[in-house]
Amino acid sequence: METIERTRIVDVLKNDAYGTKVNVKGWVRTRRGSKQVSFIALNDGSTIHNVQIVVDTTRFDEELLKLITTGACINVNGLLVKSQGQGQNVEIQAEEIQVYGTADPATYPLQKKGHSMEFLREVAHLRPRTNTFGAVFRIRHHMSIAIHMFFHERGFYYFHTPIITASDCEGAGQMFQVTTLNLYDLKKDESGSIRYDEDFFGKQTGLTVSGQLEGELAAMALGAIYTFGPTFRAENSNTPRHLAEFWMIEPEVAFNEIKENMQLAEDFIKYCIRWALEHCKDDIQFLNDHFDKGLLERLDFVLKQDFIRLPYTEGIRILEEAVANGHKFEFPIFWGADLASEHERYLVEEHFKCPVILTDYPKEIKAFYMKQNEDGKTVRAMDVLFPKIGEIIGGSQREEDYEKLSRRAAEMGVPEKDIWWYMDTRKFGTAPHSGFGLGFERLLLFVTGMTNIRDVIPFPRTPKSVEF
Ligand code: 4AD
Ligand code: MG
Repeated sequence: METIERTRIVDVLKNDAYGTKVNVKGWVRTRRGSKQVSFIALNDGSTIHNVQIVVDTTRFDEELLKLITTGACINVNGLLVKSQGQGQNVEIQAEEIQVYGTADPATYPLQKKGHSMEFLREVAHLRPRTNTFGAVFRIRHHMSIAIHMFFHERGFYYFHTPIITASDCEGAGQMFQVTTLNLYDLKKDESGSIRYDEDFFGKQTGLTVSGQLEGELAAMALGAIYTFGPTFRAENSNTPRHLAEFWMIEPEVAFNEIKENMQLAEDFIKYCIRWALEHCKDDIQFLNDHFDKGLLERLDFVLKQDFIRLPYTEGIRILEEAVANGHKFEFPIFWGADLASEHERYLVEEHFKCPVILTDYPKEIKAFYMKQNEDGKTVRAMDVLFPKIGEIIGGSQREEDYEKLSRRAAEMGVPEKDIWWYMDTRKFGTAPHSGFGLGFERLLLFVTGMTNIRDVIPFPRTPKSVEF
């Protein structure tokens, strides 16, 4: 075969230098045609679109052509020609074809279009080859870039917080344990406690549930930072919105109070959505046409809205009123209750028809580090609630007063000896500061219109599921 430098299909499709010789490599999506001519739809992942390879069957060995089936990988030299068919400008008239790898039609799982999402999860090693997952994972990439751009442009530093940690930031007891102890022969002390002093780190450790505490340390020196990394939660909730391993973005800013924190969250999400519309047009259009006819409209809609700012107490009043007017919720609603997804979605989708930033939650249902309000009952928390998703961001202004923070930690059973280093920021040069965490996969649910969080991360980890 003649050696020609490979062109990515995304670039081939933009090229109108008809008559040029090109090389493309990729995976066969479909092959159809007649005895004389074969049409191969070829995709190399660089775009949702396939390039059509036109094969004059009289010019090729029949045995070779038989190997070109759905899923096979081929290497093609050919002439760029103006396309006769609709929907594309160019196609390639094959001159030489090499089959890199065959895909036996009897066993290759991705034969037809329209496999269910459940089935595709069972073949997560191959699903990136479908249109849908190609689109989702390209969007996932572009959203990562958008996140770095947003913060970089605003002078934030990307700060790496540890993955193995000895402190449970959220205090919700959802840490996965990390140990090198022999689980078949655990040493215990007189009181029956495990001898963690013999473990790798000399104390009990786990995978981080949030980089916030370390992020705060950095903000109190660098001014404004963000983290963007994997987080782990052993919460046994099998829902379309929870993963045991997910990616979180956590900005933390010195001198920001809750108001600026809310504005940052709103600007951040809108920037990401705008970026997606600009850089992922074809993929979003595809998902809009094939999955979720309301997707584009919803993305545009959110960009135009000013997010509602609503105190929790007011939110509860609205929900209680809904109940009084006959609306049925599965879970009871009263002041002090943590909102279930159905409540969050009622506020966003039915009452306001707009994203809502709910603030000033009861202190009992929020973490120890949140700044306490004067009323003694609520804290300066903020959750950003989104249509179809519910909570997409959780954040707060932080308690900067040493005494208050210390008291609250004790009340909530967070041992100060474990977080002495965190407490030190309140002892030495403390200042108001705020931050939040955005669940990356929840953002992706919104931007792609996918309905299950397992379908926006390449290899989802959920209870009893860790294949691939
Ligand atoms: O509300 P959360 O628990 O807040 C924190 O972890 C804070 N430390 C953040 C901060 O202030 N720096 O989690 C933040 C976000 C949620 O709003 C949600 O989008 C996402 O992380 N999230 C999950 N996403 C997928 N699967 C899970 N199990 C998630 N738990 C939280
Ligand atoms: Mg939360």
